[in-house]
Amino acid sequence: MKNRRKFIKTVAAGMAGTMAIPSCAISNKAIEEAAPIPINKISDHSEAFWESIKKQFVFAPALRYFNNASLGPSAIPIQEATNEFRAQLDGFPSKYMWGGWKEAKEETRQQVADLFSVSAEEIALIHNTTEGMNLIARSFDLAPGDEVILADHEHASGTIPWEVWQETKGIQLVRPTLPILPDSVEEIVDIYRKAITPKTKVISMCHIINTNGMILPVKEVSKMAQEKGILVAVDGAQSAGMFQIDLHDLGCDFYTASAHKWLFSPKGIGVFYAKEVSQHYLKPLMVARGYKDKSIRRLENYNTRNLPELLGLGAAVAFHQEIGKEKIHQRSYELKNYFRSKIADNPKFKLKTPSNDSLSSAIQVVEVIGKDVSEIKARLIDEFNIDCRPMTKFELNALRLSFAIYITKKDIDYLVEKLNMV
Ligand SMILES: Cc1ncc(COP(=O)(O)O)c(C=O)c1O
Repeated sequence: MKNRRKFIKTVAAGMAGTMAIPSCAISNKAIEEAAPIPINKISDHSEAFWESIKKQFVFAPALRYFNNASLGPSAIPIQEATNEFRAQLDGFPSKYMWGGWKEAKEETRQQVADLFSVSAEEIALIHNTTEGMNLIARSFDLAPGDEVILADHEHASGTIPWEVWQETKGIQLVRPTLPILPDSVEEIVDIYRKAITPKTKVISMCHIINTNGMILPVKEVSKMAQEKGILVAVDGAQSAGMFQIDLHDLGCDFYTASAHKWLFSPKGIGVFYAKEVSQHYLKPLMVARGYKDKSIRRLENYNTRNLPELLGLGAAVAFHQEIGKEKIHQRSYELKNYFRSKIADNPKFKLKTPSNDSLSSAIQVVEVIGKDVSEIKARLIDEFNIDCRPMTKFELNALRLSFAIYITKKDIDYLVEKLNMV
């Protein structure tokens, strides 16, 4: 119990800085009752370490949650911190909503910036990826005939805003087809290369596509686009928090993500990055007091907003950093490879996510050959308490399985055992 308290205190201290962390954030009964967990030892990559991380998450009884790509849970310290921020706000609403947490909010921005190795002046704190993708698309004053490249696997949140411009302004959407199982990264880069024309203004792409978990080569595409004066917007809903991301190194102009998936933040919190030199393109989705602000903060003028959840993002990033971003990165690949090794040679299954580590990580998609995926999904939850997402688009007929850090090798053994039974 002592270790556990220490861990949570460390998380709180890490996220606090000058931020006023409510003192009772570490005294909740659920925390007291939870199992002890070790402090991060950089060298400790043991299964026991990850078993203890799993104990930071409290799921419904017996549930095995392989559906993080749909929505992530918040670990107990993150829930606790957020609850305390809620209580603090409700104790003195006007104070905290209108300035009392100004510094705390900036601390959170800085934490997010550090996580992605960029400047706080390049980060806006928004609600989700859908908002970020709208913000990008609605900022551009494109002319009829201008082209935007969006591959066929892009998520609706990233395509609909552009489709509206297609309907109302006559811009052209170029929709290249992505292979489900490419042979190499270069094959994907080539698809984007061939889609570019002199009329291309923007390439909008996922970092990880949500259909089969494939990683797209953002760095290579950004480099190619930059040479031609084309802007690159990235939907990072499925990547932020799964593996290490250095946004300057990626080189895209804009990157947006929902922190409530792989960063385990409170729900309804997202992050938005705009490269300093590309910020002038952006127009706030909402104009309110502060809209003339020259800084990136002009993009987040919501007036009254969900500040406890926003500060809870700070707790989520602290939790992530406490474990260690390199360690989480490695674990994502370790779980992927563990799962794949257990089913790769089994003729009952067909993996529909590329195996190459440059092309996939902790989201894997698998078909149970000859079975309807919706029926399999229903059986998994009804008979074995396994939750995952059935993917039917692009004729995948496959289960989308997420291997977030609260999944242990024992969970994967259980999953594979049950997959063999359906
Ligand atoms: C690739 C991708 N983009 C965008 C979204 C939308 O996320 P949100 O609802 O948090 O805006 C999702 C959600 O699953 C997604 O997978």
